[in-house]
Amino acid sequence: MNYNKKTVTDIDVAGKKVLLRCDFNVPMAKDGSGVITDDKRIRAALPTIQYLLEQNAAVIACSHMGKPKGEWKPELSMKPVAARLSELLGKEVILAKDIVGEDAQAKAAALQPGQILLLENLRYDKGETKNNPEFAKALADLAGPEGVYVSDAFGTVHRAHASTAGVAAYLPAVSGFLIQKELEIIGGALAAPKRPLVAILGGSKVSSKIGVINNLLEIADTVIIGGGMAYTFAAAQGGKVGDSLLEADWEQYSLDMIKKAEEKGVKLLLPTDTVAANAFAPDADSQVVPTGAIPDGWQGLDIGPETTKAYCDAVADAGTVIWNGPMGVFEFEKFAAGTKAVAEALSKTDAITIIGGGDSAAAVQQLGYADKMTHISTGGGASLEFMEGKELPGVAALLDK
Ligand code: 3PG
Repeated sequence: MNYNKKTVTDIDVAGKKVLLRCDFNVPMAKDGSGVITDDKRIRAALPTIQYLLEQNAAVIACSHMGKPKGEWKPELSMKPVAARLSELLGKEVILAKDIVGEDAQAKAAALQPGQILLLENLRYDKGETKNNPEFAKALADLAGPEGVYVSDAFGTVHRAHASTAGVAAYLPAVSGFLIQKELEIIGGALAAPKRPLVAILGGSKVSSKIGVINNLLEIADTVIIGGGMAYTFAAAQGGKVGDSLLEADWEQYSLDMIKKAEEKGVKLLLPTDTVAANAFAPDADSQVVPTGAIPDGWQGLDIGPETTKAYCDAVADAGTVIWNGPMGVFEFEKFAAGTKAVAEALSKTDAITIIGGGDSAAAVQQLGYADKMTHISTGGGASLEFMEGKELPGVAALLDK
């Protein structure tokens, strides 16, 4: 796939209307108070928005929030996002009452250079996730005949939706600075990494990481496996894993991956010891046992100290490290040591450090190492599919350089 895409600086936007797809799918307080609990994604869009406004473009921003599936759910309105964006920009953000309806059309038509309008939640219309051409055209029409489409919604580029892919059929389509950075750093590490390239893959299930394990075994020098999925590998090799998370259907696949690593000359590191617990609970009793000898009634919730040391040593002299997925149940303090140690090792290495979005990004942030990493992706599913080597529809739709 070609990642060398035109960006917002390759196209004239002065005085034009720009339809800007952002990923403002931010977490909201569960009490329905409309409080945004983490505004990182809004902040991440600021450089592109500020650039467009400075260039005297009229910005028509849009995003989805949650999965309303075509229903007008008030708790998923973009209203809190408009308010927060307005605070961060220090200027008014006009909120449309609909997406491509009368109100949005009137407000888009009246929008002046240097002003910003935010449309309502794109997924209030079923046409968005269905990539309906009429809905895509209606979005494009808001920007008028001279309009430009800028995509900065990296978190959503793995979706072939109307606002991420379909709209590019009707407007010249380029990336914003956020997508540009994600493509350069993650794309660069996958295409021409500074070696040795060490991939640390964790998380609970082999089944959700098959693509990424398979692809990184093609590219990396060392692949490290942690998290719940390690027990499927251990069981596949004849180990006893007690009550640990196990996907029996994926044992053969795990063996295939071990074989693939051997054939490719990739070092595959699997946990040799485990912190096992007598229950899935923050205050469960725990003991360190060999990963292949977990007693009945016990389950592995973290990598053990010997494994932690081996993994941290592997990171120390890496050229590039890609990390996706925690090493254990880091939400429970007692079982967070492995994930913490890996995060700390990454914070100390001179390697280029790339953190996939989702849980590993949350772990790095929670542990206070965020500013020590080269790059923390803003995409969860998107960064995973990128690392799987899949084509990203929201990137493929953009103009090539
Ligand atoms: C995300 O939060 O990962 C993106 O906003 C994409 O959301 P989705 O999984 O609902 O498409």
